[in-house]
Amino acid sequence: MRLVLVGPPGAGKGTQAVRIAERYGIPAISTGDIFRANVKGETELGKKAQEFMNAGLLVPDEVTNAMVRDRLAQDDVAPGFLLDGYPRNPGQAAELEAMLEDLEATLDVVLEITADLDEVTARLLKRAEIEGRADDTEDVIRERLKVYEESTAPVAAFYAEHGLLVKVDGMGAVDEVTDRIVTALDAR
Ligand code: AP5
Repeated sequence: MRLVLVGPPGAGKGTQAVRIAERYGIPAISTGDIFRANVKGETELGKKAQEFMNAGLLVPDEVTNAMVRDRLAQDDVAPGFLLDGYPRNPGQAAELEAMLEDLEATLDVVLEITADLDEVTARLLKRAEIEGRADDTEDVIRERLKVYEESTAPVAAFYAEHGLLVKVDGMGAVDEVTDRIVTALDAR
């Protein structure tokens, strides 16, 4: 299965990605996690990404696309993969199409996890208290939500036009959301 996960910050993409990946035996590839690991390791990639992440903005496409292209060239994606947080704008979606063409592969499904604004904000502010992620402040959360509406929502619309989009309600307990996702994926 080749799957893309979209949804606003705090919708539960990362949480559900781990569960979906385990269930279907595919690697979960989170561009946010890769960037955070590079920021922590103070690599060149991390240095390029950090200021954008801290401001709640997208890391430039040329950096992100090259990173995903490298990741999809690794052997473990042969049985499929789950992309969490990529593509995040129409340019990245076009680039992913090109990568898939080179791999002679197609996407099976794009899963959109939905959740309302108050809920995602509350989840992220709670995470700020626990994990202290630099971009989980009120101002940056607002910016990330704006970037989602302006840049990423059109990606979901693009996949909907191509008949690939499946929407799942991300409100409620984590297990309930997982059950909805599994039901929706198994029905495809
Ligand atoms: P990224 O790491 O992708 O952040 P995000 O999209 O803002 O997503 P989050 O991790 O905040 O939320 P999530 O939907 O994964 O929810 P989660 O499961 O974590 O990106 C960070 C930054 O990296 C971007 O702003 C950008 O700068 C850069 N970047 C990444 N990809 C890029 C790209 N393609 N192009 C350019 N730049 C890119 O859950 C959130 C919290 O809620 C957790 O504490 C969790 O425990 C809790 N929670 C989850 N589900 C529930 C539930 N059902 N009920 C209650 N709590 C829940």
